[in-house]
Formats: sequence, structure tokens, C-alpha cells
Amino acid sequence: VIPNSVTLVEVGPRDGLQNEKQQVPTDSKIQFIRELKKAGFNEMELTSFVSPKWVPQLADAKEVLTHCLDHDRNIVLTPNEKGVQLARKSSCQNVAFFVGVSNTFNQKNINSTTEESVQKLLPLIKELKASDFYIRACISTSFYCPYEGKVKEEDVLALCRKFVEAGVDDLSVADTIGMANPSEVFSLFSKLKLSFPNVLITAHFHDTRGMALANIYAALQAGVDRFDSSAGGIGGCPFAPGASGNVATEDVVFMLDQMGVETGIDLQQVLKAVEGIEPHLSKPVESKMYRLYKST
Ligand code: HMG
Ligand code: MG
Repeated sequence: VIPNSVTLVEVGPRDGLQNEKQQVPTDSKIQFIRELKKAGFNEMELTSFVSPKWVPQLADAKEVLTHCLDHDRNIVLTPNEKGVQLARKSSCQNVAFFVGVSNTFNQKNINSTTEESVQKLLPLIKELKASDFYIRACISTSFYCPYEGKVKEEDVLALCRKFVEAGVDDLSVADTIGMANPSEVFSLFSKLKLSFPNVLITAHFHDTRGMALANIYAALQAGVDRFDSSAGGIGGCPFAPGASGNVATEDVVFMLDQMGVETGIDLQQVLKAVEGIEPHLSKPVESKMYRLYKST
């Protein structure tokens, strides 16, 4: 049996925009977030406190947060202690750490080995939990790594366990380069749901090879009721060669609506948000529902 209702975590303003080469005006990012909030998202990744040398597009994180914080679960990505300090200064109480199961990917993405990252992050997580932070751990390359190939399930589970034991609220388990197939997804997420019944489990799919919706269906069958998606299907990690956009929010909402699975998200309003950001993007939006909307 699949869940009756699911939570969609919108990641367009963060994952979606981080890889855009041309600077998107801060006002347009803020507008994008506001339009998305009107569509009904209570949980969203707004931006990242990362090195502006590594990810210049998100150098305006502080300003974006200043204009967008409200009572929703507004999440900022932080790779390290400096990011956490900046989150504290911005009064953002919801942070996401990110780490790759694959060592090579982790090095390319945050310049340290997976083990070094874990050693640095676990004490930070404990400290933040003591001051009531909401913490998500984004687990990258949970199926395939662009450098190391197939990733073992047992390695994903072992890494997740360390974060769960440190007290994270949510595991966002990612197919960074859109290589996973529905059988692999069902298998890993079934094990995650069984192993970690007391944390939120979220699936994060990139749609590089067109398998993301099938993977969502497989994850639903494994009992997953939380999905990351990005309006317009924009995005991808700049340090994962070959990665393309996240699964498009509007396509996920349409599929779930048709299946009678509650999302609380207004599809037309998502499309309106996409229309607002599209002129600032380097490529046209390719999602099925947006193409349909523009052609009718
Ligand atoms: P480093 O060069 O080793 O760090 O980078 P550093 O400590 O030597 O600092 C370098 C400079 O950055 C210094 O400035 C720091 O102050 C500054 P300088 O003295 O040269 O002027 N700095 C910072 N500035 C703002 N906020 C910070 C921060 N930290 C240092 N938090 C570092 C290490 C982790 C900083 C770097 O590698 C980095 O920023 N990486 C971020 C990469 C990234 O954002 N990737 C995309 C997000 S992950 C993703 O997309 C995957 C996901 O979607 C799931 C999936 O699909 O798999 C989540
Ligand atoms: Mg991603």
C-alpha cells in the first residue's frame, strides 16, 4: 500500500539555481520563493551558506534568507561550521548538511573525505540539536557516483546510521546523477524505512535519464512519503559531472494528484512560479507539465 498523502520539499531555489552560470538577480530568487510558498510548500531549501568561490550563484544567501524567513520550515544548506554560524546569524533554525557516500565525490564537492566530513559534522549536529535546530542530512551518491560507479547499499545504510545516531531529523537520500532504477530504489528505501523508523526519510531524485517518476513510484511502494523536487525540474550539483535537474515538482504533483495521493500543492501556482524564474535560466524548462501549460 502506498501512502495517502506525501510531503513535497521544494528544492528549486537551492538545488535548482546553484548551477546557473549567469547570476540570477536576488529579487527574482526572492520572488520565486514567494510564488512557491503561495503554492503551498511548508518545507523548502531556500539557499546555501557555502563558499562563494565554489558556488558564486548563492553568494546572496544572507539576503535571500532575510527576505524569506517565516514560520515555514525554511532550510539552508551548510557544509561546515562557518555555514552554521551564518545560519545562526540569519536566525535560520533549519539546516541541511550534505555528505557523499562516495569519497571521491565528497572530496570534489566539499574538499574533504567522507570520514573527515562525518567527524566534523557529528559534533556540530549534537550542538545544534541542543539548541533546537531542525537538521536534515543530505546523503549524496546513494546509488551511483560519477567517479566511483555503483555505491553499495551497506555503505549508504552505515553512513545514514551515523547521522541518525547523532540526532538528525530527516535523511534526504539522493540519486545525485540520476542513474538509479526503480528496483534499486525500492530495495534501498525499504531498508532505510525498516532501519530508521524514528526519523523522516526523504527521497531526492535527479531526472538525468528520465527515471525519476518511476523511482518515486518505487519509493512510494517502499512506504516513502517525502520527496524533494524542484519547480521546473531545474538543478544539479556543479561537482557531479553529468548531473542534470531534479525531478520537476509540477510533474510529481500531477502524477500524485492523478493517483489520489494528497500533496496540498497547487499545480497552477507552481507553474506560475516557474514562469517567473524561466527568463533568468540558461536553458528552457523541459518539464512535461510546463511544456503543456505553455502550449495551451
Ligand atoms: P575549502 O576551499 O576547503 O574551504 O572549501 P576553506 O575553509 O579553505 O574556505 C575557503 C573560502 O570559503 C574562505 O574564504 C572561507 O571563508 C569561505 P577566503 O578566506 O578564501 O575569502 N567559506 C565560506 N563562505 C561562506 N559560507 C561557508 C564557507 N566556508 C568557507 N560555509 C567548502 C570547503 C566546504 C567551503 C567548499 O567546498 C564549498 O563551499 N562547497 C560547497 C559545494 C556545494 O555547494 N555543492 C552543492 C550542494 S550539494 C548538492 O547539490 C547535492 C544535493 O542536492 C543532494 C544530491 O543531489 O546528491 C544536496
Ligand atoms: Mg541534488
